[in-house]
Amino acid sequence: MRILIQTGGGDAPGLNAVIRAATLAALRRGWEVYGSRNSYNGLLGEEGPEGLFRLDANRVRGITFLGGTILGTTNRGNPFQWPSRQPDGSIALVDRSDEVVRAFRRYRFDALIAIGGDGSLRIAAELARKGLPVVGVPKTIDNDIAGTDVSFGFDTAVNVATDAIQRLHSTAEAHERVMVAEVMGRYAGWIALHSGLAGTADAILIPEIPFRIERVADKVLERERQGRLFSIVVCAEGAVPEGGQLVTRELEETGRQEPLLGGVAEVVARQLRELTGKDTRSLVLGHLQRGGSPTAYDRNLALRFGAAAVRAIADGAFGTMVALRHPQVTRVPLAEGVAHKPVPVDADIVQTAREMGVCFGD
Ligand code: F6P
Repeated sequence: MRILIQTGGGDAPGLNAVIRAATLAALRRGWEVYGSRNSYNGLLGEEGPEGLFRLDANRVRGITFLGGTILGTTNRGNPFQWPSRQPDGSIALVDRSDEVVRAFRRYRFDALIAIGGDGSLRIAAELARKGLPVVGVPKTIDNDIAGTDVSFGFDTAVNVATDAIQRLHSTAEAHERVMVAEVMGRYAGWIALHSGLAGTADAILIPEIPFRIERVADKVLERERQGRLFSIVVCAEGAVPEGGQLVTRELEETGRQEPLLGGVAEVVARQLRELTGKDTRSLVLGHLQRGGSPTAYDRNLALRFGAAAVRAIADGAFGTMVALRHPQVTRVPLAEGVAHKPVPVDADIVQTAREMGVCFGD
């Protein structure tokens, strides 16, 4: 067997652990393992002679605890909508998926391990429909992939965000301010909810529960009456006011197909300043949540996913993705597994937060 591994979309702590476990598990079976640099770029010949490279035990040594990905990644690497510069200078999206399939066969690969978030796994599902023997591995700090209870990267992001939120308390209290921290998560509130609760935020705003800013202001003022002169608000980047819109950022990025969320915390902070008369500050944690070493939980989940992907290949279970269904790692059909997973608004963790007086702005 000759297998190819690629990582696509935004990075998540734990990618390297998947690569290591998959490589070692494959080598133990006597298979050959290759990596494609920067998603499908390597396979498509876009990265020069080193675009496809052999992965051996040496190449994956000492990487379990490393953030990022030794294969590189891109979120402009969709072979079905490839950004291509036209003679007049404009950018057109062209379909290069057949080229991917041809290159895969030309290099005589037997299986592809596609490690990605919902976007990358949808691409992998499309390639599987075109006949490519694909096994998917779900990764995202956002934890928004329906097929798996948890994706690796989430725990690390929650820990980074929790630490930051916790640190805000002393400065907020010293200055009697309202601090609004924006965390990632795209259209799901998992990171905000988990870090907000663990970091003891007073209000948590998530996309699944549209908020009314007046409710958040009431919470701040109620605390004020109780002699608590500061408040911490954790805001998911995808949080939306009732009847309002997502806050997005303008970004000149060739071939980017997803809007870039961000900026809602500043809007919330401004409105809270107006409504409460308090000094407010906002901060955006941004890519800090994706950087650095994965937690032990994420390392182990990623290692389990990597080894499980190789088992799936050995069983010929193509068109599936590995997934955590507590307590086991199992497989689910790729096309179904990639569906969006919002925070259930009746989840016990939401209820717990409510029972502790956390305001969701509703
Ligand atoms: O999906 C992971 C994620 O970090 C989201 O939480 C965030 O909205 C997005 O990626 C940011 O994308 P980029 O890395 O392109 O700025």
